[in-house]
Amino acid sequence: MKNTELKESLFHPLAFGNFKVNNRIAMAPMTRSRTKEGDVPTTIMAKYYEQRAGAGLIITEGAPISIVGRGYSLTPGIYTREQIDGWKPLTEAVHKKGGKIFIQLWHVGRRSHSSITGVTPLAPSAKKVADKVFGPLEEGGYGMIETEMPNAMTKEEIQSTVMDFANAAKASMEAGFDGVEIHGAHGYLIDQFLRINSNERTDEYGGSQENRMRLLLEVVNAVVNEIGADKVSIRLSPFVSEGAGGVHDPEIAEVTLKVLKELQKLNLAFVHFSENISDYKEVPESFRKQVREVYTNPIMVCGKYTKESGSEIIYKGYADMVAYGQPFITNPDLVNRFKNDFALTDLHSDSHSIFYGGGEEGFTDYPTYEEMKAQKN
Ligand code: PHB
Repeated sequence: MKNTELKESLFHPLAFGNFKVNNRIAMAPMTRSRTKEGDVPTTIMAKYYEQRAGAGLIITEGAPISIVGRGYSLTPGIYTREQIDGWKPLTEAVHKKGGKIFIQLWHVGRRSHSSITGVTPLAPSAKKVADKVFGPLEEGGYGMIETEMPNAMTKEEIQSTVMDFANAAKASMEAGFDGVEIHGAHGYLIDQFLRINSNERTDEYGGSQENRMRLLLEVVNAVVNEIGADKVSIRLSPFVSEGAGGVHDPEIAEVTLKVLKELQKLNLAFVHFSENISDYKEVPESFRKQVREVYTNPIMVCGKYTKESGSEIIYKGYADMVAYGQPFITNPDLVNRFKNDFALTDLHSDSHSIFYGGGEEGFTDYPTYEEMKAQKN
């Protein structure tokens, strides 16, 4: 009996907010850089997400909430009329297939360069670490470029950033999304405020743990007030030091637990932990237990989970959903493959070149298991 429950744990529906997802398998947010002029979503993006609508929930690639919040060329924004309208066919396509889709709201803070945005990046403090982002190359085309020294944000800039998040959430509803995921992870703006190393402010947004949490909580509250808590989630990555120059913050676990205590009061859709991307430490089981002590609403985890380890973490009660990244790139029908124990298509060794930029190749041309079999016959 127990074994069946363990095996089935990814396939039970889950009710959260005002809706229900068909299974516990989410598609993780992944930058794919395939927009058109004006950073507007394209038809092939609609096709890509539609193909993956079997996921219980799709979380889109990061969508910059403003020009200065952009850190990578060719990523789809959610701040101009054309961009908002550009998302509509995409959300419609996913809904037609019975899927659910949240948009990831993104402000990169210091992880950018003025050659991408036309403006100097903004951050809690004027502090740069060695870091590269995807932008225009001097010799033409796009590639990885070193980030630039950011300006420390004024209080006015902080307040207008909070507004930008709220406006982007409102625009996301107009674009047809089921909800939003605020990007609070991976060394981007909100995470920069949380961490000692990137936040050297001496005003109420820096110094004490409570002060470093202030921006995060202001953003979450503003977004909740705009669209309702049941449509809001946030991604955190306390054990990842990406974008932080490889420095692990000694207080981040404690700060995260304090944040969760506050978020518990709000009844968000879910909190999403990214656990395994570039520089990371293994999440201690003791931390997972502490999280469950302070946070009882849905939790999503992400980070190189397999079907087995994903089933297990749900079965153990540490998570309610598991997000899969790369497996969803190469297996549009991932849920079906998991369900039927079909073999997975792996990434080709040269596939990195098609992660970012380009067209349909390596994007919408991965077949389902059935299509693959038909091709072979
Ligand atoms: C990436 O484009 O590599 C990327 C973007 C956002 C993340 C992590 C990685 O949170």
